Amino acid sequence: MSEALAPPSPAALRACMARFATGVTVVTYDGDTGPRGVTMNSFTSASADPPLVLISVARRARCHDQLLDRPFCVNILGAEQEALARQFAGVEGAAEPRWTSGVRAPRLDNPLAWVECEPWRSYDGGDHTLVLGRVTGLGHRDGDALTYAWSRFGVLTESADGIEHLF
Ligand SMILES: Cc1cc2nc3c(=O)[nH]c(=O)nc-3n(C[C@H](O)[C@H](O)[C@H](O)COP(=O)(O)O)c2cc1C
Repeated sequence: MSEALAPPSPAALRACMARFATGVTVVTYDGDTGPRGVTMNSFTSASADPPLVLISVARRARCHDQLLDRPFCVNILGAEQEALARQFAGVEGAAEPRWTSGVRAPRLDNPLAWVECEPWRSYDGGDHTLVLGRVTGLGHRDGDALTYAWSRFGVLTESADGIEHLF
């Protein structure tokens, strides 16, 4: 373990962040030629009133400008949807995504949960842009979650003993 006063190298930052286990989402939106999606794990809930969620979008991504100015849907993936995560990250995999038309934005068929948003505010985030979305619709189903840590996909089983009563 090391502590550095100088700015960390990108590799050192990546090594730390790889130990932060997350869920996996595909953010979907209406592209210029039809529905499009992009795999993202920089997703978190930000506010209950108003209801806001946060995503961090790489400036170099094709979706960047579009996600700043049109509705989008955050599809939280279930354990059996790893192929979709790979496909929408532009890595190997040839899943056949099935689409559902939402009220404001297209979404994937049968995600573990979905959160439809309108862009609310965006902020400079270095080589990313932080986009807050105002939640306009949502839904969920039962099932196990797809996870991502140490640059690997994994699975987290739905547990009966949560601590939701504390928050
Ligand atoms: C697990 C995982 C998480 C990712 N999270 C993000 C993210 O939070 N933000 C982002 O901009 N790209 C993220 N990416 C990379 C994008 O999915 C990838 O660059 C994609 O090809 C961009 O698509 P586009 O250029 O068509 O918009 C992630 C990739 C993986 C595999």
